[in-house]
Amino acid sequence: SAGQVADQLGFGAYAVGGFVRDLFLYRVNEDIDIVIEGNGIEFAKTYARLKKARIHTYEKFGTAVVIFPDGFKIDIATARMEYYRFPADLPNVEMSSIKLDLFRRDFTINTLAVQLNAVKFGILIDFFAAQKDLKEKVIRILHNLSFVEDPTRIFRAIRFEQRFGFSIGKLTAGLIKNAVKMDLFNKLSGRRIFNELRQILEEADPTPAVQRMHDFDLLKYIHPELKPSAKLLSNFQAVKKVLDWHDLLFLDEEYLQWAVYLMVMLRQFKPDTTRAICERFEMASRYQVIFCEERYRGDQCLFWLRRNLPIENSKIYRELSEFRVEVLLYMMAVTRNEAVRKAISNYFTQLRQVAISIRGKDLQRIGVKPGPVYREILDAALNAKLNGRIKTRSDELNFVR
Ligand code: CTP
Repeated sequence: SAGQVADQLGFGAYAVGGFVRDLFLYRVNEDIDIVIEGNGIEFAKTYARLKKARIHTYEKFGTAVVIFPDGFKIDIATARMEYYRFPADLPNVEMSSIKLDLFRRDFTINTLAVQLNAVKFGILIDFFAAQKDLKEKVIRILHNLSFVEDPTRIFRAIRFEQRFGFSIGKLTAGLIKNAVKMDLFNKLSGRRIFNELRQILEEADPTPAVQRMHDFDLLKYIHPELKPSAKLLSNFQAVKKVLDWHDLLFLDEEYLQWAVYLMVMLRQFKPDTTRAICERFEMASRYQVIFCEERYRGDQCLFWLRRNLPIENSKIYRELSEFRVEVLLYMMAVTRNEAVRKAISNYFTQLRQVAISIRGKDLQRIGVKPGPVYREILDAALNAKLNGRIKTRSDELNFVR
């Protein structure tokens, strides 16, 4: 029906990008992108009205998001026609607007399109041999100035390469090395580099990507002293193990995977250096505290636990409850001490959930005078419960009596 709307308006309509690529790779992708030859916003408005969907438009870019009543979203763009923005030495060939739009994209594997207009519905359009590259499992740029145009594509090349188990083509790899030699990244803001790094650290297994970033000498854009040392790589692998463990047990608890990996990546640095890196990344201050403060406290806590274990549950609880999930996962990953790791995992699976049911009003009822002593009594009851000395609500009531 999107195709019918386009037909009515006299526009060409195509499904493009990651969605079509992932069809060929048998991967699930729920981000549908449609490119319109004509006016994308007008198309989006008409289509949304028909579907009783909401819509956000970005007039400046000629793009829109259509949001269906069930929350499903489709991105709509207008095929870009900016010939004049092409670097001078590209062949000045005639292209339809969809072909031009696809030509401006990062890699051949992202240039497949499926026609949506009714008469040609479902026809696959492959101008740049994307199917061949998908079959050969290579990441290739479309033209030699691709990385000059947009250096963030270098990080994207590594991300796609590792995600799909592809390899970066020879010419493309050469152009990456060239771009690094030319120091193209110095033009790029820290914020954009951080944004790409974060996406890499959100992938299912970021470890090989770190090695690849090193191969192309990209780690220096995070910090000149950053190297994929054996320790860093083994800590990265340890993070993956811990996250797999966590996700199995607490499937629907959300956390920032990238932050756990980034704590490990920045582990070798002193607070001043870490602060400088976060500042250059233009990282939001709510995240900066994780790397500049909490993770150092996490390391101190590991040290303390190593020296003081075994201790009773209530003490472990008091030590660990100040940390957010990301820092706890970091701590589990980097510790070399089995007892410490056990203590933290016990906190995760058991202690964290422990609570007492009695409240201030219960204390009032049994005649305790209100005051700071309430806190002490309730804390003592929680400690007793954590240490297994009391279990039920009536145990709790007996305890405070
Ligand atoms: N794109 C590009 N250059 C960039 C970023 C994006 O050419 N620096 C193009 C790509 O061709 C991509 C499309 O814009 O197909 C959409 O970008 P994005 O949503 O980031 O890509 P996906 O391929 O959908 O990646 P992911 O699977 O990670 O969402």
